[in-house]
Amino acid sequence: MTTTEAYGARAQEYADLLGTIEAMAPQDRLCIESWALAVEGPILDAGCGPGHWTAHLAALGHEARGIDPVPEFVEIARRSHPGVGYDVGSFAELTGGSLRTAHAGSWGGVLAWYSLIHLEPGELPDVLAQLRAALRPAGSLLLGIFDGRRQESFAHAVAPAWLWPAETMAQLLEDAGFDVVSLERREDPGARPHAALIAERR
Ligand SMILES: C[S@@+](CC[C@H](N)C(=O)[O-])C[C@H]1O[C@@H](n2cnc3c(N)ncnc32)[C@H](O)[C@@H]1O
Repeated sequence: MTTTEAYGARAQEYADLLGTIEAMAPQDRLCIESWALAVEGPILDAGCGPGHWTAHLAALGHEARGIDPVPEFVEIARRSHPGVGYDVGSFAELTGGSLRTAHAGSWGGVLAWYSLIHLEPGELPDVLAQLRAALRPAGSLLLGIFDGRRQESFAHAVAPAWLWPAETMAQLLEDAGFDVVSLERREDPGARPHAALIAERR
């Protein structure tokens, strides 16, 4: 089963458990809200799942749109947040194909909150290049990832995922043409270590 199929089969369950802003850690809200305040221009929530972060950013007054490759998620997002725009699509389609919107190449910010975690490490350079190409010059990318001592896969509840040493991810971002401007780590009781990286298109 692919990652998309695995999420599709459990989309409503995921949305019921994790698809509201109230279910999110206050520190994550602060991180995403303060990042968005500094972004100039429209924000793309790439791998938006049930769309709660997109809708939250829109409610705060940002121009925000979500994409996700799982049609079931996009349907839930559209139903739950009728005033917000969502499209079915993956990172690979960001700068071409059906997702080539008026904003392709000119997003002020891209949020990839835990949406890179299921990619094989070898896929990251191409995907980061896509994310970079989706951004305007000096546009900002915010990544949320599971932080690990080593790069290793683990049995995530929905589909296999990867732990990334945050420094390794930072180096990949630099190699892909970003300047990493912030790297924060956090360990919450009972949760896997978390890291958030902000990187600007060089
Ligand atoms: C752990 S969920 C995170 C969802 C949402 N960002 C959140 O914070 O709740 C991972 C998301 O990444 C999406 N995803 C997986 N592979 C993707 C790809 N190649 N392109 C875009 N999104 C992808 C999944 O469909 C899923 O919605």
